[in-house]
Amino acid sequence: MTRMQQPAEERDYVLGTHDAEVERLAFQHDLWRPRVREAWLAAGIGPGQRVLDAGAGPGFATLDLAELVGPLGQVVALERSRRYVNLLQGEVARRGLHHVHVRESDLMLDAIPATGLDAAWCRWVACFVNDPALLVRRVHGALRPGGVLVMHEYVDYGTYRCLPGRPMIDAFVQEVMRSWRQDGGEPDIARGLPTLLHGAGFRLVSSRPLGLAVRPGEPAWNWPAGFIRTFTPRLLELGRIDAAWADRLLLELAQAEADPAAVFMTPLVLELVAERL
Ligand SMILES: C[S@@+](CC[C@H](N)C(=O)[O-])C[C@H]1O[C@@H](n2cnc3c(N)ncnc32)[C@H](O)[C@@H]1O
Repeated sequence: MTRMQQPAEERDYVLGTHDAEVERLAFQHDLWRPRVREAWLAAGIGPGQRVLDAGAGPGFATLDLAELVGPLGQVVALERSRRYVNLLQGEVARRGLHHVHVRESDLMLDAIPATGLDAAWCRWVACFVNDPALLVRRVHGALRPGGVLVMHEYVDYGTYRCLPGRPMIDAFVQEVMRSWRQDGGEPDIARGLPTLLHGAGFRLVSSRPLGLAVRPGEPAWNWPAGFIRTFTPRLLELGRIDAAWADRLLLELAQAEADPAAVFMTPLVLELVAERL
């Protein structure tokens, strides 16, 4: 679906909510699932719990959380994009998941329609909102005392680079960061999150960096490389780059892929687990 064909009510954001982005998010979730599940289990998320997925996207993590908490638990998925909400609601109905509640909601404008939750999951959302402190305060208000928040957010987006260095790929990473910042977000948002969490009434329980170094031919190569392929047309659509720039970038990516010595470093994520005091 192109931007022109979107329903009038669609509230997309800098990455867009088109089909290629949905596929990218699905692949991304599959890639990160083992680490995500590890974090959820270490945070004590399990059967019977009531959990929030804040900024759920098309809901790939929501569906895994639904399985983890089981039918006696509950998952509340909040998402701003109507298109993503519709996709997730369709999948929830298809699977007969009566314990999953999907709501169209803007975390910057709307109160969270739940309280006393046991846990919350929030990944790659704080980097796109214009007031991450408000996001953290709202999630705090939805949790019970002792409830946990698990976050995965970028702490150093500039580690996204190809070895040996590729100037167009470096320029792409800089352009991504500029586009998010101009849209009101902050790619390196995790640098400020520990202080925000503390200020909102959380106790930091654990933190760990998460990053990958991948080689051409490995399935995981398609995470850093695939983002270049999906976000380049979006940058063109947004008028941020021209076709010649895009061609030079994609040529350089193809050259990296053909280089048996290439290594792609991914943007560094910081995992944070915090408990509501
Ligand atoms: C990169 S996606 C991540 C989706 C999901 N958390 C995941 O990890 O697969 C970012 C999501 O945040 C959503 N989002 C951005 N700003 C939002 C806001 N103010 N309120 C609710 N959702 C928002 C976007 O619509 C998008 O679905």
